Amino acid sequence: MKKSILSLIIALSITLISNSQNKQENISTTASTKIDKKVDSLLGIMTLKEKIGQMNQYNGFWDVTGPTPKGGDAAKKYEHIKAGLVGSMLNVRGVKEVKAVQKIAVEETRLGIPLIIGFDVIHGYKTLSPIPLAEAASWDLEAIQKSTQVAASEAAASGINWAFAPMVDISRDARWGRVMEGAGEDPFLGSKVAFARVKGFQGDDLSAVNTIAACAKHFAAYGFAEAGREYNTVDISESTLYNTVLPPFKAANDASVRTFMNAFNELNGIPSTGNAFLQRDILKKEWGFQGFVVSDWGSIGELKAHGYAKNNKEAAKLSVLAGSDMDMESYAYVEHLETLVKEGKVDGALIDDAARRILKVKYELGLFDDPYRYCDEKREKQVIGSKENIDAVLSMAKKSIVLLKNEKVSGQESKLLPLKKQGLNITLIGALANDNDSPLGSWRTSADPNTAVTVLEGLKQYKGNTLVYKKGADVAIGEAAFINEITINTTDKSEFGEAVEAARKSDVVIMVLGEHGYQTGEGRSRTDLNLPGVQQELLEEVYKANKNIVLVLNNGRPLAITWADEHIPAIVEAWHLGTQAGNAIAQVLYGDYNPSGKLPMSFPRNVGQVPIYYNYKNTGRPLAYEDKKMVFWSHYGDVENTPLYPFGYGKSYTDFSYGNLILDKTEISVTGEIKVLVDVTNTGKYDGEEVVQLYIRDLIGSITRPVRELKGFEKTTLKTGETKTVIFSINPEILQFYTANKKWEVEPGDFDIWIGGDSNASLKASFVVTE
Ligand code: BGC
Repeated sequence: MKKSILSLIIALSITLISNSQNKQENISTTASTKIDKKVDSLLGIMTLKEKIGQMNQYNGFWDVTGPTPKGGDAAKKYEHIKAGLVGSMLNVRGVKEVKAVQKIAVEETRLGIPLIIGFDVIHGYKTLSPIPLAEAASWDLEAIQKSTQVAASEAAASGINWAFAPMVDISRDARWGRVMEGAGEDPFLGSKVAFARVKGFQGDDLSAVNTIAACAKHFAAYGFAEAGREYNTVDISESTLYNTVLPPFKAANDASVRTFMNAFNELNGIPSTGNAFLQRDILKKEWGFQGFVVSDWGSIGELKAHGYAKNNKEAAKLSVLAGSDMDMESYAYVEHLETLVKEGKVDGALIDDAARRILKVKYELGLFDDPYRYCDEKREKQVIGSKENIDAVLSMAKKSIVLLKNEKVSGQESKLLPLKKQGLNITLIGALANDNDSPLGSWRTSADPNTAVTVLEGLKQYKGNTLVYKKGADVAIGEAAFINEITINTTDKSEFGEAVEAARKSDVVIMVLGEHGYQTGEGRSRTDLNLPGVQQELLEEVYKANKNIVLVLNNGRPLAITWADEHIPAIVEAWHLGTQAGNAIAQVLYGDYNPSGKLPMSFPRNVGQVPIYYNYKNTGRPLAYEDKKMVFWSHYGDVENTPLYPFGYGKSYTDFSYGNLILDKTEISVTGEIKVLVDVTNTGKYDGEEVVQLYIRDLIGSITRPVRELKGFEKTTLKTGETKTVIFSINPEILQFYTANKKWEVEPGDFDIWIGGDSNASLKASFVVTE
C-alpha cells in the first residue's frame, strides 16, 4: 500500500534533508518540531506539481460511491485527484463518501497524501444549534464553546476534518444577510466568541477523533460591504480596520486557529484575496500565523471581475504573492502556478511555504497516521443526532433567546410573561409557528429539511391550557431554498379573518412572525427591515381584536419593529434557533427557563438609521448639543438618533439592580491596573441570570474614540433576593487601541466607566491614566 512506501521514503529522507531547510519560526513544542521535520522530509520528495496540488481544493463533484465519472468537469477533477493534484475537497460528507474519495488520494496517487475534507459547519452539523448571531446573544462563552464542540464532534463523525467557521466578521449593517453568521457589531464580544468557537472546534488535541480544524473567516472587513449589499465594495479607515474589524481575527489566531479564509470583498481598492497587506504583513508576519489561508469560493478567479487581474494566470500570481495558500474552486493554481514558477514570476519558495502550511495541518489532524481516522461508520451512527447532542442544542437555544419587552396589559395583575400553565385559552398565529424548516436557517449544512421542532409542537407539551392554531398568512411561497423577496407573500390575506376571530375569543395570543430562515445568510441582503410580506398587517389586525399579544420573532438580523414596540405588550426575540427551536421557545414562554440573552447588535427604529451601533463617535455636534430646536446638530429630522433596542439589551422575568461601584484606584500609569467592583442584586420574584457589562470611554484620543466601548462582561446567576459582587480588571490590554502612531498603545488621559445591564448603563465612575 502507498502509505507504507510514503512512510519509508519519509523516514529515509529525514536523515538526508538538512535541518537548515527547516525554515519554520516559533516552533516551541517537540510535537510541533517533529511534525515540521516530517513535513520538510515530505516536501523534499515532492515535485513542484505535487506541491501545487496540495494548494488546490475542489467541491464534491460526483457520487463518489457510484460509478467513476466519464467526461466533463467531474472526470477532470477525478483525474486530478488520482494525479496528486488535489489537496482538499469540500462538500464531500458522510463516512462512506469521505472514505471513497480519501481512498483515491491515499491509495492511487504516487505519494498517497491524504486530503483534508472541509465543510461549512456553521451552527451544527445535523443537530443544529441556533444561528451564530443568536448564540452570541447568550453572552455565554462556555455554552458557545460547548455548542461548537457538539458541531465539531458530529462533523468529525461524518468524515469531516475542517470547518469553514467561525465567521468572525463584525458588522453594523442589518441589511447584510450574513449578520446571522457572526457575533454582531462589537469587537470585544466578537473576539471572545471567536476564541471560544475556535477552542470548541479544535479542542486541546487536533488529532482527536472529535475535533476538527477551524477557519476564521472572512479575512477581512467583509461585514462592511457598502449599504449592506452582499459582496459589495468595502472602503474603511485604517482605524476601523485595526480597532474594529481585526480584533476577532487576532483572537482566533491567539486561540491557534489552524486556517483562515480570505474574503470576496475588496478592501480600500485591493481585493482581500490578492491583498498582501492583510495576508502577509498582518496575518503571517505581524501575528505569526502558522496555519494556511484558503481562498473563498472562486475568489481567486473573481480578481478578474474586480478589475484587478486580467486573466486566471495573473489572478493566480497575485493571490499566491499575497499569501493565499489554497485555491477553492478557481482552477487558477492548478492550471497556472507551475508555469509561473518556471517563468520566474513566482518564487518556488512561496509554493514550498504554502504546501508546508497545508501539510502541517494535515499532520496535526493525524491524517498521515491514519487517513481514515474520521471515517468510522459505528461512531457516525452513535454520535450524530445523539440524545446528548439534542439536549445540548436545546440548552443553547434557550440561552440565545432575548426578552425585548414584557409589560402588563391594562386590567391585568401581572406581566404577560411567563404564561400561566393552567386555565388559559391561547391562540397561536403565524406560518412560522408551524414551520419545521425555517428554524434551521439557510446554513443548515447537513441537517435534513423539516426537522426542527415547531413552536406549535413545543407549546402542545403544556397541556393545562387550550391551544388553537391559525396560520393567518404565509411568509414564503414556493421553493424555500430559492427564496428571495419575490417569493414572499405580499398579497394573500385570505386567512386573516379566521386568525382574528380565534384571537378575539382567547385570553392570550402568541404570534410567531419574522423572516423565513432562507431570507437570511449569504446572498440574502435586504433593504427593508420591516416584518416581510403581509405580517405587519396581520399583526395590526389581530391587535384590534385582542391586545394580549406575545410577539415571538424569528429572524436572522435586527428588524425594525417600532410599531410592535409601541403596541405589543410582550416581545421575544427567538432568532432561528435550530433543531430544538419550538421546545426552547415554549420553555421560555412558560417560564421553565428565565430568558437571559442580550442583543449582540443594535435594533434600529427604521432602516434609514442603519448602520447604527452603540460604539459610535461623538462628532463635533453631538446629541447633547445645546439647543435641540436648532437643526445644526448631528441628527435626523424624522426619528431619534437612538436605536429601538440598544446593544447589550435584554430583559428577564426578574429584575436586577446595580450599586456600590468601587474602583480600587482612580489613577494609574499606562501599565497599571484598576480593580472594579460592583454589586448586582436580583430584586425580582424569579431566580435569573444577568450579563453584567462594563463600558469605558477614553475621552481624548490621538484618533477620536467611541462614546462607549464594551471592555468586560460576566454572566452571573442570582437567586431571588441575592446580591453578588462582580469584579473586573481595567488593564493595558483593554485600554490600548491602534493610535495615530500606528501602534497599539494606552494613551494617558481621562476615562469614564459605566457598569450595567446594557450599553446604556448609567452607574458611572471615572479614572485617570498618567504617563
Ligand atoms: C462562502 C464561504 C463558504 C464557502 C464554501 C462561500 O460562498 O462565502 O463562507 O465557506 O462558500 O462553502
